[in-house]
Amino acid sequence: MTRKSAQLDDQLHDYLVEHGARPDELQRELIADTARLWPDSAEMQISPEQGSLLTLLAKSVRAGTAVEVGTFTGYSALAIARGLNRDGRLLCCDISTEYTDVARDYWRRAGVEERIELRIAPALRTLRALDPEPTIDLSFVDADKESYIAYWNELVPRTRPGGLLVVDNVLAGGRVLSEQHDPTAHAIHEFNRYVLRDHRVELTMLPISDGITLARKL
Ligand SMILES: C[S@@+](CC[C@H](N)C(=O)[O-])C[C@H]1O[C@@H](n2cnc3c(N)ncnc32)[C@H](O)[C@@H]1O
Repeated sequence: MTRKSAQLDDQLHDYLVEHGARPDELQRELIADTARLWPDSAEMQISPEQGSLLTLLAKSVRAGTAVEVGTFTGYSALAIARGLNRDGRLLCCDISTEYTDVARDYWRRAGVEERIELRIAPALRTLRALDPEPTIDLSFVDADKESYIAYWNELVPRTRPGGLLVVDNVLAGGRVLSEQHDPTAHAIHEFNRYVLRDHRVELTMLPISDGITLARKL
C-alpha cells in the first residue's frame, strides 16, 4: 500500500486553500459571517476545498439538475450553483429558515438566486415528492446523518447514468472506528457499509475535510 493521505496541520491546510481552492471575497465573507452568527455551529459549513470540488464536479457532469440535502448558510449551494449549466437549477432542502435566510442573501449577492429553489421541509418529504425519473446530474448530501441511507435511496434511482452523488462527513471525525455508542457515527458507519454493497453505483471515498463519498451512477 502506498503513502496514506497527508495529515494537514493548520499551516498546510492554509496552503491548500490558498493554492487549490481560492474562495473569492464573497465566499470569505460568508465564512466569516457564519462564524460570527453561529460560532458553535459554523463547523457545519463545508470547507473551501470541498466547495471548489463541488463547482468542478458540477461543471464536469455539465449539471443541469442538481439537488442538495442540507444547506445551512448556503456555501455548498453557492459552489454547486456556480458550476451549473447556463439554464441549470439546484433544489436545496433544509428545515431552517434562520440559517437559510443568510444563504438567500448570499445567493442574491452572488447572482445565482434565480438558479436555486429552496424548500423548507424535512428533506425526505421533499425528495419523495420529486419526479421518479432519473434526471438528477449531481446531488450533495450533508444533513442529519441518521437519514443518510434513506436520502441515498431516494436519490440513486433519480440520478441519471453517469450522474454523481457526493456525501459529506463519511469519516465522522474518525469516530467511525469506534461507533458503537455514538448514534451519529454509527449511522455513518452503517451508511458506508450500505453503499459499499450498492451495485447501482461505483464509488470512491476521499479524505477531504471530514471525508466524502463520491459515487457515479451506473
Ligand atoms: C452540516 S449543515 C449543511 C452545511 C452546508 N452544506 C454548507 O455548506 O454550509 C446541515 C443542515 O442540515 C439541515 N437539516 C437537518 N436535518 C434536516 C432534515 N431532516 N431535513 C432537511 N434539512 C435538515 C440543518 O438545518 C443544517 O442547515
